[in-house]
Amino acid sequence: MIKRIWIMTLFPEMFKPFLECGVAGAAFRGAREGDIKFEIKFVNIRDYSTTKYKSVDDSPYGGGPGMVMRADILKDALIKGVLEAGGYQSLSDLEVIYTSPRGKVWNAQVAREFGQTQLSTTSKDLVFIAGRYEGIDERFLSLYVNSYYSIGDYVLTGGEIAIMSMLDSAVRFLPGVLGNNLSSVADSFEDGLIEYPQYTKPREFDGLDVPSVLLEGHHKKIIEWQDEQKVQMTKKFRPDLIK
Ligand code: ADE
Repeated sequence: MIKRIWIMTLFPEMFKPFLECGVAGAAFRGAREGDIKFEIKFVNIRDYSTTKYKSVDDSPYGGGPGMVMRADILKDALIKGVLEAGGYQSLSDLEVIYTSPRGKVWNAQVAREFGQTQLSTTSKDLVFIAGRYEGIDERFLSLYVNSYYSIGDYVLTGGEIAIMSMLDSAVRFLPGVLGNNLSSVADSFEDGLIEYPQYTKPREFDGLDVPSVLLEGHHKKIIEWQDEQKVQMTKKFRPDLIK
């Protein structure tokens, strides 16, 4: 089954390296085995500009700094570029997502939930809108956007990096994306703690040995050591996570 993810942006080229590299890139360019194949489709918002110089923004009513993206141009991009081009019956076939500091704050739990619901075959195709400038005319947002997500309490110059962060972190929870299906379970935050430290060859590096417990092959002891290390690492690097 094909799951389409539409991205409305002024900079589709920003996504090229993301789609070309790594396991997330493989998943989103449809190169992954499994019951769901992703197809990423780009809509360049500028293609829907009706102005002489192909602008998509204008100055805000009431004054103030910066420019605001026009509701009419975004609506055309959504209706013509996504709804009609994609052969959808109505907007209710689509989940329209706007990345913005006003949105629900993204974390490991939200990413897992999003991966298991919005990135699954049973949910609607997705439309991400990447804002630029000072934002988007509120009338477009109130009429056409279904959900809002923020990747943190800071402001980016555009939504593209937020969209890539969301897709990258959510796709890890789909079966078959990470080489080992248990990888995402062992990761940081899964139990509210930071991941335990990892070691590989060489056994001795710059005078430091690999912890001996990892070399002795005693599985239960290794698990106990790793669990204890998670607590120690969290205390050391992220004491704010220890309640
Ligand atoms: N666009 C600008 N800032 C953002 C943020 N923090 N999260 C998501 N999208 C954004």
